[in-house]
Formats: sequence, structure tokens, C-alpha cells
Amino acid sequence: MRLKNKVAIVTGGAGGMGRSTVMRFIEEGAKVVIADYNAASGAETLAEITGLGYKDAAHFIKTDVASEIDIKTMIECALDNFGRVDIMFNNAGVGGVVGPVWDLQVEEWDYTFDVLVKGVFLGIKHAAKVMRKQGDGGTIINTASVAGLSGGCGPLSYSAAKAAVINLTKAAAVQLAPDRIRVNAICPGFILTGLTHSKHESLEQAGKRMDATQPFPDHGKGEDIAGTALFLATEDSRFVNGEAIVVDGALTAVGPDMWQRWGVPYERDMTRNVVNKGTTGDKNTRRQLGD
Ligand SMILES: NC(=O)c1ccc[n+]([C@@H]2O[C@H](COP(=O)([O-])OP(=O)(O)OC[C@H]3O[C@@H](n4cnc5c(N)ncnc54)[C@H](O)[C@@H]3O)[C@@H](O)[C@H]2O)c1
Repeated sequence: MRLKNKVAIVTGGAGGMGRSTVMRFIEEGAKVVIADYNAASGAETLAEITGLGYKDAAHFIKTDVASEIDIKTMIECALDNFGRVDIMFNNAGVGGVVGPVWDLQVEEWDYTFDVLVKGVFLGIKHAAKVMRKQGDGGTIINTASVAGLSGGCGPLSYSAAKAAVINLTKAAAVQLAPDRIRVNAICPGFILTGLTHSKHESLEQAGKRMDATQPFPDHGKGEDIAGTALFLATEDSRFVNGEAIVVDGALTAVGPDMWQRWGVPYERDMTRNVVNKGTTGDKNTRRQLGD
């Protein structure tokens, strides 16, 4: 029970990786406030928790993370029901506007940034207020994305917003470190959730499609993010602060991925050993593996 006596708030906790994290935190003994815009999936999540035999472990509150009043009410909900806030997981998100930059409407851009960036800012602001008052530290976790690390992993405004979340995380970590409040981000790669799973395919089909996304053979799951969030929520990560942890099955590690671009299978490199001598005039050497 690594989160016994801890109180967590998880935004976007009624779906996808937020829901997986809620379940993991509860298994580890935490009390959890599930804050989500979608009241129907909030009710389903609560029913699942109760069905598993956890009593009074969670509370749902309908929340729009882009609204400061809602975020204040969410924090009050945690205080009223569970007495404190130890872990704030700012995770709620949407895909936002997708389209060419010359055609984006300001309102579409604002919607994307309101949910993805303002929502995280407000979560940090109000959790930090309470944690500073409590006086015994805390941990804040923000969901960014690998899309925030380059231009080729997501829609334009989403990528810009997630990059903002990464640097907001670092700047907030610096400000809050003296109070022992740690702020870290998780940058998921492609994770099978409602956000990435089209309604036109079964979950199994979507999983198979996503298996091929990155070098690691299986697709990413909500549980993979929940495990990382648990690490960041506990004292195991005591000295990890201002970090953006990539959880992507080596999607970003593969970088420009030239072999794939040139249509050469990865396996080709694994069948022989060649020492390229460049333009020295010396001949390359080549041998079979294991010789
Ligand atoms: N799935 C992926 O591949 C992936 C990759 C990188 C980052 N992310 C990020 O991970 C986070 C979770 O995404 P997911 O894949 O679990 O998606 P999801 O759609 O399965 O779950 C997101 C949850 O956030 C809630 N939400 C949306 N807008 C909200 C708002 N304004 N206020 C409160 N709740 C709101 C939704 O109702 C939903 O329950 C998001 O921030 C997303 O951008 C996802």
C-alpha cells in the first residue's frame, strides 16, 4: 500500500490513462477525487470502483479544467471529503484543433490551449496553494506528450500546447522546490485510449494497428502511464523534480528513423557486421555475426 493516507486528485480521471491511474492509486490505498468533464464516464468509473469492493475511496466531481471556479471547487471537494491534497495529477486532455496553420481559427486555438495549458496551470496553482498551507510537500504530475518534443508527433496546436506543459512543469518545479512540492510531467507516446481509438474499429483492431507505432512490439496502455504516475506520486521519486519522463516504447528514441524512411527493415542491421572505412581508400570489412 504505497499511497496509504494519501489524497490524490486526477483530472480526466474518468477515461483513458486517467482512469487507469485512478484505479492504480486506489489499489495502493489512496483516496481519490476524480475530476472530469464527462459525468457519464465519471459515474461508470465510480461504479467500477465500488464494484471492486472499495468503499469511500473515491469521489467524482464534474469539472471543466479550463474554468478556475471549477478547479477551486474540485480542490474544495478533496478537502471536504478527504481533508487534504497530496497528489495532483493534471491529466485531462483533448485532441484540440487539427488542421493547417493558415486555416486555424483563434477560437479553436484558444479551446485547445484552454484545456491543455490553462487547465494544467490552474491545477498547479490551486494544488500548490493547499500544499504550501499543509506545509509537508506534495507532488504534482502533468500529462504532456511526445508531441511536445518535436513537430512530427501530433497536430500543430496540440504540439505547441504540450511543449508549453513541459516548460510550465519545469518552471513550476523551480518555484515550488523550496516547499518540497515536486512538479513533473509524463510524456506518453501512443497509448490505446478513447482518444486514440477510432469508433470505426474494435479495441483489438486498434491495439494491433498501434502495435506497429514504435520499436517496442506492443501498444502502450493506460496502465503504463499509471505505473509512471505512481512512481512520481511516491517517495521513490523524491529527488526527481522538473522532469518530463517519456513513456513511449522507444518511439522518440528512434529519432529520424532513416532506415524506415528508406524502406529498409530494422532487421537488416542485425544480420551482419560491417566496418565502414569511409573515403579513406581502405576496404570496408564485413563478417557474419558471431564469427
Ligand atoms: N492517448 C495517447 O496516445 C496520448 C498521448 C500523449 C498524451 N496524451 C494525453 O494524455 C491525457 C489523457 O488522454 P487519454 O488518452 O487518456 O484520453 P481520454 O479521452 O481517454 O481521456 C481524457 C479524459 O479527459 C476528460 N476531459 C477532456 N476535457 C476535459 C476538461 N476540459 N475538463 C475535465 N476533463 C476533461 C475527458 O472527458 C476524458 O475522460 C491527455 O492530456 C492527452 O492529451 C494522450
